[in-house]
Amino acid sequence: MSSSTKQASAVLAFQQKYGPWALIAGASHGVGAAFAQQLAARGLNCVLVARREEALRDLQAQLIEEYGVEVLLVTQDLAHADATSKLLAAVAEREIGLFVYNAGGDPYITKFLDTSVDDWSTLLRLNALTVMACSHAFGGRMLERGRGGLILVGSQAALGGIRKLAMYSATKGFALNLGESLWAEWKDRGVDVLNLLIGTVDTPTMRAAMVKLKIADALTMVLPKAGEIVEVALRELANGPTLIHPEDLSFSDPALQPGTVRQQHVLSKSAEAALFIGTD
Ligand SMILES: NC(=O)c1ccc[n+]([C@@H]2O[C@H](COP(=O)([O-])OP(=O)(O)OC[C@H]3O[C@@H](n4cnc5c(N)ncnc54)[C@H](OP(=O)(O)O)[C@@H]3O)[C@@H](O)[C@H]2O)c1
Repeated sequence: MSSSTKQASAVLAFQQKYGPWALIAGASHGVGAAFAQQLAARGLNCVLVARREEALRDLQAQLIEEYGVEVLLVTQDLAHADATSKLLAAVAEREIGLFVYNAGGDPYITKFLDTSVDDWSTLLRLNALTVMACSHAFGGRMLERGRGGLILVGSQAALGGIRKLAMYSATKGFALNLGESLWAEWKDRGVDVLNLLIGTVDTPTMRAAMVKLKIADALTMVLPKAGEIVEVALRELANGPTLIHPEDLSFSDPALQPGTVRQQHVLSKSAEAALFIGTD
Protein backbone atom coordinates (compact mmCIF):
# COMPACT_ATOMS: atom_id res chain seq x y z
CA MET A 1 0.00 0.00 0.00
CA SER A 2 1.41 3.41 -0.97
CA SER A 3 1.89 6.03 1.76
CA SER A 4 -0.86 8.26 0.30
CA THR A 5 -3.32 5.32 0.28
CA LYS A 6 -2.37 4.54 3.90
CA GLN A 7 -2.92 8.17 4.85
CA ALA A 8 -6.31 8.27 3.11
CA SER A 9 -7.48 5.11 4.90
CA ALA A 10 -6.29 6.51 8.26
CA VAL A 11 -8.32 9.69 7.62
CA LEU A 12 -11.38 7.61 6.68
CA ALA A 13 -11.05 5.50 9.85
CA PHE A 14 -10.75 8.72 11.90
CA GLN A 15 -13.93 10.13 10.30
CA GLN A 16 -15.83 6.88 10.89
CA LYS A 17 -14.85 6.82 14.55
CA TYR A 18 -15.08 10.52 15.45
CA GLY A 19 -17.18 12.16 12.70
CA PRO A 20 -19.18 13.64 11.21
CA TRP A 21 -18.98 16.65 13.58
CA ALA A 22 -16.44 17.77 16.16
CA LEU A 23 -17.33 20.37 18.77
CA ILE A 24 -14.49 22.50 20.12
CA ALA A 25 -15.43 24.42 23.27
CA GLY A 26 -12.94 27.30 23.39
CA ALA A 27 -12.01 27.41 19.71
CA SER A 28 -11.22 31.03 18.91
CA HIS A 29 -7.45 30.91 19.35
CA GLY A 30 -4.49 28.88 20.62
CA VAL A 31 -4.97 25.18 21.37
CA GLY A 32 -8.68 25.21 20.50
CA ALA A 33 -8.10 26.82 17.10
CA ALA A 34 -5.32 24.28 16.43
CA PHE A 35 -7.78 21.45 17.20
CA ALA A 36 -10.29 22.99 14.78
CA GLN A 37 -7.64 23.26 12.05
CA GLN A 38 -6.45 19.67 12.42
CA LEU A 39 -9.93 18.20 12.72
CA ALA A 40 -11.16 20.09 9.65
CA ALA A 41 -8.06 18.86 7.81
CA ARG A 42 -9.25 15.31 8.64
CA GLY A 43 -12.62 16.15 7.07
CA LEU A 44 -14.67 16.66 10.24
CA ASN A 45 -17.32 19.39 10.27
CA CYS A 46 -16.73 21.71 13.21
CA VAL A 47 -18.86 23.45 15.83
CA LEU A 48 -16.75 26.35 17.11
CA VAL A 49 -17.60 27.75 20.54
CA ALA A 50 -16.15 30.80 22.34
CA ARG A 51 -17.19 34.29 23.43
CA ARG A 52 -15.60 36.39 20.66
CA GLU A 53 -17.69 36.13 17.53
CA GLU A 54 -15.29 37.96 15.23
CA ALA A 55 -12.40 35.57 15.91
CA LEU A 56 -14.75 32.62 15.37
CA ARG A 57 -15.98 34.09 12.06
CA ASP A 58 -12.41 34.46 10.76
CA LEU A 59 -11.65 30.84 11.66
CA GLN A 60 -14.94 29.68 10.14
CA ALA A 61 -14.15 31.37 6.82
CA GLN A 62 -10.66 29.87 6.75
CA LEU A 63 -11.80 26.30 7.53
CA ILE A 64 -14.52 26.43 4.87
CA GLU A 65 -12.12 27.80 2.26
CA GLU A 66 -9.21 25.45 3.03
CA TYR A 67 -10.98 22.21 3.86
CA GLY A 68 -14.51 22.53 2.44
CA VAL A 69 -16.09 21.38 5.70
CA GLU A 70 -19.26 22.72 7.33
CA VAL A 71 -18.72 25.05 10.29
CA LEU A 72 -21.30 26.11 12.87
CA LEU A 73 -20.54 29.03 15.21
CA VAL A 74 -21.86 29.24 18.74
CA THR A 75 -21.04 32.44 20.61
CA GLN A 76 -21.41 31.36 24.21
CA ASP A 77 -19.85 32.01 27.61
CA LEU A 78 -19.15 28.53 28.96
CA ALA A 79 -19.09 29.85 32.52
CA HIS A 80 -22.85 30.50 32.38
CA ALA A 81 -25.08 28.02 34.18
CA ASP A 82 -27.13 27.31 31.04
CA ALA A 83 -24.11 26.88 28.72
CA THR A 84 -24.61 23.16 28.11
CA SER A 85 -28.32 23.42 27.32
CA LYS A 86 -27.56 26.31 24.92
CA LEU A 87 -24.91 24.16 23.19
CA LEU A 88 -27.30 21.24 22.88
CA ALA A 89 -29.96 23.52 21.37
CA ALA A 90 -27.48 25.03 18.89
CA VAL A 91 -26.11 21.65 17.83
CA ALA A 92 -29.64 20.23 17.35
CA GLU A 93 -29.56 16.93 15.41
CA ARG A 94 -25.91 17.13 14.34
CA GLU A 95 -23.93 14.06 15.42
CA ILE A 96 -21.02 15.20 17.57
CA GLY A 97 -18.51 12.36 17.32
CA LEU A 98 -15.69 14.24 19.02
CA PHE A 99 -16.05 16.72 21.87
CA VAL A 100 -13.02 18.82 22.81
CA TYR A 101 -13.31 20.92 25.99
CA ASN A 102 -10.45 23.40 25.76
CA ALA A 103 -11.58 26.64 27.45
CA GLY A 104 -10.33 27.02 30.97
CA GLY A 105 -7.39 29.23 31.86
CA ASP A 106 -7.12 31.12 35.16
CA PRO A 107 -7.52 34.87 34.52
CA TYR A 108 -6.81 35.72 38.19
CA ILE A 109 -3.56 34.01 39.28
CA THR A 110 -3.83 35.30 42.84
CA LYS A 111 -3.68 33.88 46.32
CA PHE A 112 -6.99 32.19 47.21
CA LEU A 113 -8.30 34.97 49.51
CA ASP A 114 -7.38 37.75 47.05
CA THR A 115 -10.12 36.79 44.58
CA SER A 116 -13.80 36.80 45.52
CA VAL A 117 -15.90 33.68 45.96
CA ASP A 118 -18.10 34.93 43.10
CA ASP A 119 -15.12 35.05 40.72
CA TRP A 120 -13.84 31.65 41.86
CA SER A 121 -17.34 30.30 41.30
CA THR A 122 -17.20 31.52 37.70
CA LEU A 123 -13.92 29.61 37.24
CA LEU A 124 -15.50 26.57 38.88
CA ARG A 125 -18.37 26.63 36.36
CA LEU A 126 -16.01 27.08 33.38
CA ASN A 127 -13.44 24.46 34.44
CA ALA A 128 -15.58 21.92 36.24
CA LEU A 129 -19.39 22.20 36.13
CA THR A 130 -19.69 22.82 32.39
CA VAL A 131 -17.08 20.12 31.73
CA MET A 132 -19.20 17.68 33.74
CA ALA A 133 -22.49 18.71 32.11
CA CYS A 134 -21.05 18.56 28.56
CA SER A 135 -19.42 15.17 29.23
CA HIS A 136 -22.79 13.90 30.47
CA ALA A 137 -24.77 15.29 27.52
CA PHE A 138 -22.43 14.62 24.62
CA GLY A 139 -20.80 11.48 26.08
CA GLY A 140 -24.25 9.96 26.59
CA ARG A 141 -25.11 10.43 22.93
CA MET A 142 -21.79 8.89 21.86
CA LEU A 143 -22.40 5.84 24.04
CA GLU A 144 -25.81 5.37 22.41
CA ARG A 145 -24.05 5.32 19.03
CA GLY A 146 -21.21 3.15 20.36
CA ARG A 147 -18.46 5.39 19.04
CA GLY A 148 -16.81 8.74 19.63
CA GLY A 149 -14.21 10.63 21.61
CA LEU A 150 -13.92 13.14 24.43
CA ILE A 151 -10.80 15.27 24.91
CA LEU A 152 -10.46 17.35 28.07
CA VAL A 153 -7.67 19.87 27.69
CA GLY A 154 -6.10 20.13 31.11
CA SER A 155 -2.94 21.20 32.80
CA GLN A 156 -0.10 19.72 34.79
CA ALA A 157 -1.55 21.90 37.57
CA ALA A 158 -4.09 19.06 37.90
CA LEU A 159 -1.41 16.84 39.41
CA GLY A 160 -1.21 18.65 42.76
CA GLY A 161 -1.85 21.89 44.60
CA ILE A 162 0.13 25.00 43.67
CA ARG A 163 0.48 28.30 45.57
CA LYS A 164 -1.50 31.12 43.87
CA LEU A 165 -3.22 28.58 41.62
CA ALA A 166 -5.52 26.98 44.20
CA MET A 167 -8.77 27.03 42.23
CA TYR A 168 -7.06 26.43 38.90
CA SER A 169 -5.31 23.30 40.19
CA ALA A 170 -8.46 22.19 42.07
CA THR A 171 -10.71 22.51 39.02
CA LYS A 172 -8.18 20.95 36.67
CA GLY A 173 -7.81 18.09 39.18
CA PHE A 174 -11.59 17.66 39.07
CA ALA A 175 -11.57 17.38 35.28
CA LEU A 176 -8.62 14.95 35.36
CA ASN A 177 -10.33 12.58 37.81
CA LEU A 178 -13.61 12.87 35.93
CA GLY A 179 -11.95 12.09 32.59
CA GLU A 180 -9.97 9.14 33.96
CA SER A 181 -13.10 7.65 35.52
CA LEU A 182 -15.09 8.09 32.30
CA TRP A 183 -12.26 6.42 30.37
CA ALA A 184 -12.55 3.41 32.70
CA GLU A 185 -16.36 3.32 32.23
CA TRP A 186 -16.43 3.87 28.46
CA LYS A 187 -13.26 2.24 27.10
CA ASP A 188 -15.02 -1.02 26.19
CA ARG A 189 -18.04 0.78 24.73
CA GLY A 190 -16.37 2.47 21.75
CA VAL A 191 -15.87 5.93 23.25
CA ASP A 192 -12.32 7.18 23.83
CA VAL A 193 -11.46 9.66 26.56
CA LEU A 194 -8.20 11.59 26.74
CA ASN A 195 -7.07 14.12 29.32
CA LEU A 196 -4.44 16.27 27.65
CA LEU A 197 -2.28 17.68 30.45
CA ILE A 198 -0.19 20.56 29.15
CA GLY A 199 2.93 22.02 30.77
CA THR A 200 3.22 25.22 28.75
CA VAL A 201 2.01 26.14 25.27
CA ASP A 202 2.35 29.23 23.14
CA THR A 203 -1.14 30.80 23.21
CA PRO A 204 -2.30 34.43 23.35
CA THR A 205 -3.61 33.81 26.88
CA MET A 206 -0.27 32.42 28.08
CA ARG A 207 1.72 35.29 26.50
CA ALA A 208 -0.65 37.85 28.05
CA ALA A 209 -0.28 36.17 31.46
CA MET A 210 3.51 36.20 31.15
CA VAL A 211 3.49 39.91 30.32
CA LYS A 212 1.14 40.65 33.24
CA LEU A 213 3.43 38.69 35.57
CA LYS A 214 6.43 40.68 34.25
CA ILE A 215 8.31 37.53 33.19
CA ALA A 216 11.55 38.33 31.38
CA ASP A 217 11.37 37.50 27.64
CA ALA A 218 7.59 37.11 27.97
CA LEU A 219 7.06 37.69 24.27
CA THR A 220 10.17 36.02 22.90
CA MET A 221 10.62 32.90 25.07
CA VAL A 222 10.41 29.74 22.94
CA LEU A 223 7.39 27.65 23.96
CA PRO A 224 5.84 24.48 22.49
CA LYS A 225 3.41 25.29 19.65
CA ALA A 226 -0.28 24.49 19.96
CA GLY A 227 -0.29 22.64 16.63
CA GLU A 228 2.48 20.25 17.74
CA ILE A 229 0.65 19.36 20.96
CA VAL A 230 -2.66 18.86 19.17
CA GLU A 231 -1.03 16.53 16.64
CA VAL A 232 0.26 14.31 19.48
CA ALA A 233 -3.14 14.40 21.23
CA LEU A 234 -5.02 13.27 18.12
CA ARG A 235 -2.45 10.52 17.51
CA GLU A 236 -2.81 9.28 21.11
CA LEU A 237 -6.59 9.75 21.42
CA ALA A 238 -7.24 6.01 21.65
CA ASN A 239 -4.47 5.55 24.25
CA GLY A 240 -6.15 7.32 27.17
CA PRO A 241 -6.87 8.24 29.76
CA THR A 242 -4.05 10.74 30.18
CA LEU A 243 -1.34 12.26 28.03
CA ILE A 244 1.18 14.38 29.90
CA HIS A 245 2.98 16.84 27.64
CA PRO A 246 5.93 17.00 27.20
CA GLU A 247 6.99 14.35 29.75
CA ASP A 248 5.36 11.38 27.98
CA LEU A 249 7.31 12.18 24.81
CA SER A 250 10.66 11.83 26.56
CA PHE A 251 10.27 8.06 27.14
CA SER A 252 10.61 5.76 24.15
CA ASP A 253 9.36 2.86 26.31
CA PRO A 254 5.60 3.54 26.75
CA ALA A 255 5.60 1.57 30.02
CA LEU A 256 7.76 4.28 31.61
CA GLN A 257 5.63 7.24 30.52
CA PRO A 258 3.88 9.04 33.41
CA GLY A 259 0.63 8.83 31.38
CA THR A 260 0.92 5.02 31.28
CA VAL A 261 1.61 4.93 35.02
CA ARG A 262 -1.68 6.82 35.57
CA GLN A 263 -3.47 4.40 33.22
CA GLN A 264 -2.26 1.45 35.31
CA HIS A 265 -3.37 3.25 38.48
CA VAL A 266 -6.90 3.78 37.07
CA LEU A 267 -7.13 0.13 35.99
CA SER A 268 -5.89 -1.30 39.29
CA LYS A 269 -8.02 1.05 41.46
CA SER A 270 -11.09 0.29 39.30
CA ALA A 271 -10.49 -3.45 39.73
CA GLU A 272 -10.02 -3.02 43.49
CA ALA A 273 -13.17 -0.88 43.80
CA ALA A 274 -15.17 -3.37 41.70
CA LEU A 275 -14.92 -5.87 44.58
CA PHE A 276 -17.10 -3.49 46.62
CA ILE A 277 -19.15 -1.52 44.10
CA GLY A 278 -19.56 -4.09 41.33
CA THR A 279 -18.55 -4.40 37.70
CA ASP A 280 -21.88 -3.41 36.12
N1 LIG B 1 -1.37 28.19 27.61
C1 LIG B 1 -0.70 27.35 28.41
O1 LIG B 1 0.53 27.41 28.59
C2 LIG B 1 -1.46 26.25 29.11
C3 LIG B 1 -0.78 25.48 30.06
C4 LIG B 1 -1.47 24.46 30.67
C5 LIG B 1 -2.78 24.20 30.34
N2 LIG B 1 -3.41 24.99 29.41
C6 LIG B 1 -4.82 24.71 29.12
O2 LIG B 1 -5.05 24.77 27.74
C7 LIG B 1 -6.35 25.29 27.48
C8 LIG B 1 -6.25 26.44 26.50
O3 LIG B 1 -5.48 27.45 27.09
P1 LIG B 1 -5.27 28.87 26.47
O4 LIG B 1 -3.94 29.33 26.91
O5 LIG B 1 -5.52 28.86 25.01
O6 LIG B 1 -6.34 29.78 27.21
P2 LIG B 1 -7.88 30.10 27.37
O7 LIG B 1 -7.91 31.44 27.94
O8 LIG B 1 -8.48 29.01 28.15
O9 LIG B 1 -8.56 30.19 25.92
C9 LIG B 1 -8.86 29.13 25.17
C10 LIG B 1 -10.13 29.33 24.39
O10 LIG B 1 -11.23 29.27 25.27
C11 LIG B 1 -12.10 30.37 25.04
N3 LIG B 1 -12.68 30.73 26.32
C12 LIG B 1 -12.04 31.15 27.44
N4 LIG B 1 -12.94 31.40 28.40
C13 LIG B 1 -14.17 31.13 27.87
C14 LIG B 1 -15.49 31.22 28.36
N5 LIG B 1 -15.76 31.66 29.60
N6 LIG B 1 -16.51 30.85 27.56
C15 LIG B 1 -16.28 30.44 26.28
N7 LIG B 1 -15.05 30.35 25.76
C16 LIG B 1 -14.00 30.70 26.55
C17 LIG B 1 -11.23 31.46 24.44
O11 LIG B 1 -11.95 32.30 23.57
P3 LIG B 1 -12.78 33.61 23.98
O12 LIG B 1 -11.86 34.44 24.81
O13 LIG B 1 -13.14 34.19 22.65
O14 LIG B 1 -13.99 33.16 24.71
C18 LIG B 1 -10.26 30.62 23.62
O15 LIG B 1 -10.83 30.32 22.38
C19 LIG B 1 -6.95 25.68 28.84
O16 LIG B 1 -7.80 24.67 29.29
C20 LIG B 1 -5.73 25.78 29.74
O17 LIG B 1 -6.01 25.50 31.09
C21 LIG B 1 -2.79 26.00 28.79
